[in-house]
Amino acid sequence: MSRSKIALIGSGQIGGTLAHLAGLKELGDVVMFDIAEGTPQGKSLDIMQSSPIDGFDCALSGTNEYAGIAGADVVIVTAGVPRKPGMSRDDLLGINLKVMSQVGEGIKTHAPDAFVICITNPLDAMVWALQKFSGLPENMVVGMAGVLDSARFRTFLAEEFNVSVEDVSAFVLGGHGDTMVPLTRYSTVGGIPLPDLVKMGWTTQEKLDQIVQRTRDGGAEIVGLLKTGSAFYAPAAAAIQMAEAFLKDKKRVLPAAAHLSGQFGIDDLYVGVPVVIGAGGVERIVEIELQGTEKDGFDSSVNAVRGLLEACRNIDASLA
Ligand code: APR
Repeated sequence: MSRSKIALIGSGQIGGTLAHLAGLKELGDVVMFDIAEGTPQGKSLDIMQSSPIDGFDCALSGTNEYAGIAGADVVIVTAGVPRKPGMSRDDLLGINLKVMSQVGEGIKTHAPDAFVICITNPLDAMVWALQKFSGLPENMVVGMAGVLDSARFRTFLAEEFNVSVEDVSAFVLGGHGDTMVPLTRYSTVGGIPLPDLVKMGWTTQEKLDQIVQRTRDGGAEIVGLLKTGSAFYAPAAAAIQMAEAFLKDKKRVLPAAAHLSGQFGIDDLYVGVPVVIGAGGVERIVEIELQGTEKDGFDSSVNAVRGLLEACRNIDASLA
């Protein structure tokens, strides 16, 4: 059986980390693509030369031609520009929409059977546009945000409770932006929901609220520290988990920006919801019941995404 092929569109900070992780985990052969000449070639060669040391077998190569991604099983898209301090993810919309149009065309022509994971921001709008530009089935195009946002939430919770991150599970839904919705009721430590832990005196509601806010601001906190770009280690790890779920048909239940066609009462929009990812791509959307403030938060998040889609349609008439 031949190895799977993973194509990375964008070989910048996240792209390089994706390639390294895909190699270390032996997920398949990796092709890195970028418009910058030499970058995908140099990074792939560098990572390949680490393989005898770490003991992984995987062919890595770099290209500036879309033909190089032909036959990919998974395509992970990070092409575009990242945030600088003071910018919101939405500020990237105009530039990155044009990039999605080129990337969508490349995928449509050379890798129409792939499972596509989009990371480029503003995420919910870019993944929606990428699906339209590529014409791939909606269940085969997904956005990475929820795994990352949930991992940030889990990190802060594990720190607060002084327990292993492995025993903290969390769900962050909604759009990947200021309106994201960390769901405390569905987040647990060793199976115990967070509201119960407040009652048990493990933490206070005030501290929990601060952690929720820090999760929402998680990306901006890192942009503010790095000053020259945005987070890349955790975003790459999150996308690799989703790619692995597809390649190994693991049927993982993960939060992801998925295409809704009636679920949650929403039509033709990508937003973060729990999904099952297996060999069929997004095999199922888990339609959990949202209550009170959860529903309000989700609704305002959906409205924010709707505003971004309207902005996309105004820029590119083919999306109307
Ligand atoms: N086609 C292919 N690659 C492109 C294109 C294009 N049209 N335009 C830009 N790129 C490449 C750049 O040359 C660069 O190598 O995309 C890469 C982006 O890498 P970085 O600038 O290092 O950004 P990164 O931190 O990897 O983030 C990428 O993911 O999280 C989001 O907000 C983030 O939108 C940003 C994306």
